[in-house]
Amino acid sequence: VTEGFTVAIDGPAAAGKGTVSKAVAAHFGFAHLDTGLLYRAVGAKVLAGADPVDAARTLIPDDLENDSLRTPEVAQSASRVAVIAEVRAALVDFQRSFAARAGGAVLDGRDIGTVICPDAQVKLFVTASPEVRAQRRFAELSGKGIGDSYDRVLADVRARDARDMERAEAPLRPAADAHMIDTSTLTIDAAVAQAVALITKAR
Ligand code: CDP
Ligand code: CDP
Repeated sequence: VTEGFTVAIDGPAAAGKGTVSKAVAAHFGFAHLDTGLLYRAVGAKVLAGADPVDAARTLIPDDLENDSLRTPEVAQSASRVAVIAEVRAALVDFQRSFAARAGGAVLDGRDIGTVICPDAQVKLFVTASPEVRAQRRFAELSGKGIGDSYDRVLADVRARDARDMERAEAPLRPAADAHMIDTSTLTIDAAVAQAVALITKAR
């Protein structure tokens, strides 16, 4: 199924998936897709009154270029639409085509190693404690002027983790052959170095 070289990176909210993915893509010259943006774009359309399945079926790349997708409200809406099987099914082809790019690709999300790219050459599961993840997301949102309290961010992260892990369709879990990277006590550079070393070995 995969023609180029695919790196699948999964994990819970604010674990560092995006940060590691971007650095790995830059290091190896791979294309990068943040698949969370697909669900966030559908979630944003639903907040604006759209039907979730229609929104997923009519999604266009321009829908992903939107700064408002980063808000906690959109994140919660994303995780609610992400339990719907027809929504997930509508987004599969786009993700698999992206993964098969000749020059190599990194995809990060929740079900990349388990459902979207089960044949990925490298699978990473990036995680960290809920408190560390909430602290990081809190700092990130504060920097953008979004004034949620730490407690509210932690509650949001926990609610989303629970919904993502407990859903019937493509639940969040490490693939059997995923390498675990716990970033709780790692700097960004150290986490990236672990990922780069694992990918270098697999190539
Ligand atoms: O993509 P995901 O939601 O998993 O997380 P992210 O957006 O890559 O990272 C969330 C925040 O944690 C960012 O502000 C990162 O700079 C920070 N981070 C960190 O402090 N230490 C790490 N080892 C990884 C990420
Ligand atoms: O950046 P963060 O990790 O906080 O969230 P995200 O990756 O943007 O994902 C937002 C939501 O989309 C998640 O909580 C999941 O419910 C859903 N999602 C999913 O179900 N499958 C994916 N491959 C990516 C995201």
